[in-house]
Amino acid sequence: MSGRAESAGPAPRSLTGYAVAVLRAAAPAEKIRLTRAAAAAWRSGGLSEIGEELPPNRPARPDRPQLLPPRLMPKRRAGAARAGRIALLHALAHIELNAVDLAWDLIARFARPPLTQDFCAEWLAVAAEEGEHYALLSGRLAALGAAYGDLPAHDGLWQAAAETAHDVLARLAIVPLVLEARGLDVTPAMIRRLDGFGDGESAAILRRIYADEIGHVATGRRWFARLCAARGLPPAETFRSLVLRHFKGGLKPPFNRAARDAAGLPPAFYEAAPMPAPAAAKPAGALTDWRGRSAG
Ligand SMILES: [Fe+2]
Ligand SMILES: [Fe+2]
Repeated sequence: MSGRAESAGPAPRSLTGYAVAVLRAAAPAEKIRLTRAAAAAWRSGGLSEIGEELPPNRPARPDRPQLLPPRLMPKRRAGAARAGRIALLHALAHIELNAVDLAWDLIARFARPPLTQDFCAEWLAVAAEEGEHYALLSGRLAALGAAYGDLPAHDGLWQAAAETAHDVLARLAIVPLVLEARGLDVTPAMIRRLDGFGDGESAAILRRIYADEIGHVATGRRWFARLCAARGLPPAETFRSLVLRHFKGGLKPPFNRAARDAAGLPPAFYEAAPMPAPAAAKPAGALTDWRGRSAG
């Protein structure tokens, strides 16, 4: 799979032009380069046009890592040994690279009036942070003698995007408010484990990611509330019904109440979330897997 935006051609002239260039770039380094360039241009005022370019259905991916269905993924043994830590960091790098694409897809797909300058500025900031998360993790992998692509990664992280491509409210419910919020639930235990293994460098990267992700959930929560207000919908009930419709398997406790509170996500959103009956269809493996790992 080769990305059409691999060779540095002329810089895109609009923000959605950057979004499409990132999504069509297969190489992670090119996704990060374009993301940094867009953020810098937007900050300096050199980029202000949003444009109307439409995103591809799926982002381009490098040839490696090999993408496997979640059920075929080898079990990750997050032990103290270097291999276990590499496997954890590799899985997180894969999630962060997908998070870069998810933030850009949100912009390209949904930045239309009335979601314009503020919406773009905030989600571009999220895309830029996801890019830095990927860069930190891939740098740490390099320090451990490994690289993103060395291990298989699971295919299916794009499932949430496909499932919610029709509606920005559904997208915000599932990506920041389910998946990234799940990252807040599971990250503190990963940090404690890495500290326990004496890998303070990796733990420090996860601390930085954790702090940023509280902001991503908060951004999702704010835009979700604005859109609910514009549509005359009650936020908590609307969230719960979107989860029931678009996130098979439901939310998975325990929840990190302190981090969710810090992001402005109240328990009425998740504590009362309807859980499907036990006889319900098996949850989609990809999403279950991601929920178990997500740091976004
Ligand atoms: Fe995030
Ligand atoms: Fe992230």
